[in-house]
Amino acid sequence: MSVVTQPIDRTDGPLKVTGEARYAAEFQLPRLAHAVMVQSTIAKGSIASIDASVAQQAPGVVLVLSHLNAPKLPQGGKAFIKPPAGRTLSLLQDDVVHYNGEPVALVVADTFEHAVAAAGLVKLRYRKARAQLDFEQAKGAAHPPKQMPQGEPDVAWGDADKALAAAELRVQQTYTTPMQTHNPMEPHATIAAWEGERLTLYDSTQYISGVREAVAKTLGISPERVRVVSPFVGGGFGCKGSTWSHVVLTAMAAQRAGRPVKLSLARPQMFGPVGGRPQTEQRVALGAQKDGKLVAIRHDVISHTAVMEDFVEPSSMPTRQLYACGNVAATQRLAALDVGVPTFQRAPGESSGTFAIESAMDELAYALDMDPLELRLANYAEADPRTGKPWSSKMLRECYADAAERFGWAKRPMKPRSMRDGHALVGWGMATATYPAHRRPASASARLLPDGTALVRSGTQELGTGTYTVMTQVAADALGLPPERIDFELGDTLMPPAGVSGGSTTVASVAPAVKAACEGVRAKLAALFAPGNEQDVVAQNGWLSLKSDPARRESYAALLARAGGAPLEASAHEEPEERGKEAYATRSFGGVFCEVRVDEDLGRISVPRIVAGYSVGRLMNAKLARSQLIGGLVWGVSMALLEETHLDLREGRIVNANLAEYHVPVNADIGTIDVFFCDEDDTRFNPVGARGIGEIGITGIPGAIANAVYHATGRRVRKLPILLDDLI
Ligand code: MOS
Repeated sequence: MSVVTQPIDRTDGPLKVTGEARYAAEFQLPRLAHAVMVQSTIAKGSIASIDASVAQQAPGVVLVLSHLNAPKLPQGGKAFIKPPAGRTLSLLQDDVVHYNGEPVALVVADTFEHAVAAAGLVKLRYRKARAQLDFEQAKGAAHPPKQMPQGEPDVAWGDADKALAAAELRVQQTYTTPMQTHNPMEPHATIAAWEGERLTLYDSTQYISGVREAVAKTLGISPERVRVVSPFVGGGFGCKGSTWSHVVLTAMAAQRAGRPVKLSLARPQMFGPVGGRPQTEQRVALGAQKDGKLVAIRHDVISHTAVMEDFVEPSSMPTRQLYACGNVAATQRLAALDVGVPTFQRAPGESSGTFAIESAMDELAYALDMDPLELRLANYAEADPRTGKPWSSKMLRECYADAAERFGWAKRPMKPRSMRDGHALVGWGMATATYPAHRRPASASARLLPDGTALVRSGTQELGTGTYTVMTQVAADALGLPPERIDFELGDTLMPPAGVSGGSTTVASVAPAVKAACEGVRAKLAALFAPGNEQDVVAQNGWLSLKSDPARRESYAALLARAGGAPLEASAHEEPEERGKEAYATRSFGGVFCEVRVDEDLGRISVPRIVAGYSVGRLMNAKLARSQLIGGLVWGVSMALLEETHLDLREGRIVNANLAEYHVPVNADIGTIDVFFCDEDDTRFNPVGARGIGEIGITGIPGAIANAVYHATGRRVRKLPILLDDLI
């Protein structure tokens, strides 16, 4: 029986609950010093003067770094490494200020408390320049991006404008989503330790190889001299996908101080210098025939970026693949602000984009007087709408049907304001969830030890999503060993390299490499056990036997001992098809249904019930998968009703940079969440048949909630978050 798909408990669970799991800031090093970042308090301009004399004399202070004395880096610290690994950083190379919150000095002391106290004694004076902080104004000068995280900024097929003009029915609306900031429980943290010319970084990162590349290139040293260690990450969600300024600054400070240095960002420092989701304005135009068939779709997105660097929130991406339509145009534009560089935040594009397109589809359903689910089915994309390529696997129809059934959708009256429960207006809404599936190159090694246990390694990351567990399961099946006898290790650049744990790609990328490496070991075992007769060998539960002669049995340990006692090893590197050469289009989907209740007088909104079914390929671990999707849906509720980063338009300061005023849901905000999966196995996509599930959960649900709010109240809210002020 396969270990993969079993809902086994997290293999790293005991380490986490006993506090044994070591996170970046928890590594103990002799003579460790502590750094605190000093940040600019203006949005744009330059540093007129910096007086560190008092700070320098404060108790325990080792070093104050600023642009006056920081090491000069090659190319001024701008190595231009491609995202996600590299971003435009602030490394104390000049006196220019690009945003409020930008690092302008670093104070290093013997204790954290001394560093915090001394950081408050650094005196800075600025020359202010006029900053562009207003998205409404910046929109006027929006520019096309030079590149996108995936795909092209603009696509068009057919003639969307002509088809729109000729359509029997049209919906044309503008939807907006706010700036948001990810806040994993573990803030970013880095420890840097030099031994001669060699640098070791203990970093909370989604991409150890990316950190190595970015830090080495920025400092102008060879990557072989940099080792990055990251065995546990307390949540990433995209903000830890790139190497931000504090990582390089910590390495610079450790070198100058001649001792290891730790820098752990305080919660307010998570808002600004390490990215967040850009705000968007999305114009969606749908043209349809009276029978509901779409004849035209336009989705034009403007998102904010930083003057320092282009980053695109690619909200039009889902629209390019969701529905069958012959006339489609999608564009992405950027409005540059004097703020910190924005970045990937869980389901970049798909979460904000599905809110717009799925709200517009609901509006079209009402314009047609057609059930919103019927409208989706009438426009079901049987193949990729643009290329005509078949899907590697798609079971969205089954998701819709099963979720609708479990929800009781058939009983929904079409008319808004037609259901109530006492003082609450009740509404039911639905939307489509979707996220693309991609693979990256990855490698792994496997070693069967003389005691019959195995050590399997890949330089990937564990963000809390279950990588340790799932890779252990993959290795167990491929090696014919119970999972307890496998030790899977990750998070060290000394291990075979893997890609960024972003874009929901870890399982799809790393599992094939782990599988191949373990199969390599198993082939060697078979050759030892029955040379020339390997096809006949069965390897199961740590025992070898012959299909033709089940009585001939030997344990792995006994065989290795007989063969001289050396471990058996194999490694593997697995690559996906070259981009664009794939025979299939690949994407995950889901049908999300929810109930909202709105207090008729107070406008208070709650979401007592969500039912969501997903088509995501093969489930590697049903228990962890369910947790991922529940977490994503909770964040979707947050996105719909609570989250917003507030930028002060005078000084460019984020004013709610804490978890009291940056609202996220608590248990009382979350009702029942019923998540299920279609029985699927996408082996056209990769050898393990799984498409990745980290991000799809947050998609669709904000639109479903907005649609349910309309159904409850008759009020169409086209902005997020939907607040009670929007309803009273
Ligand atoms: Mo995800 S936002 O690609 O870490």
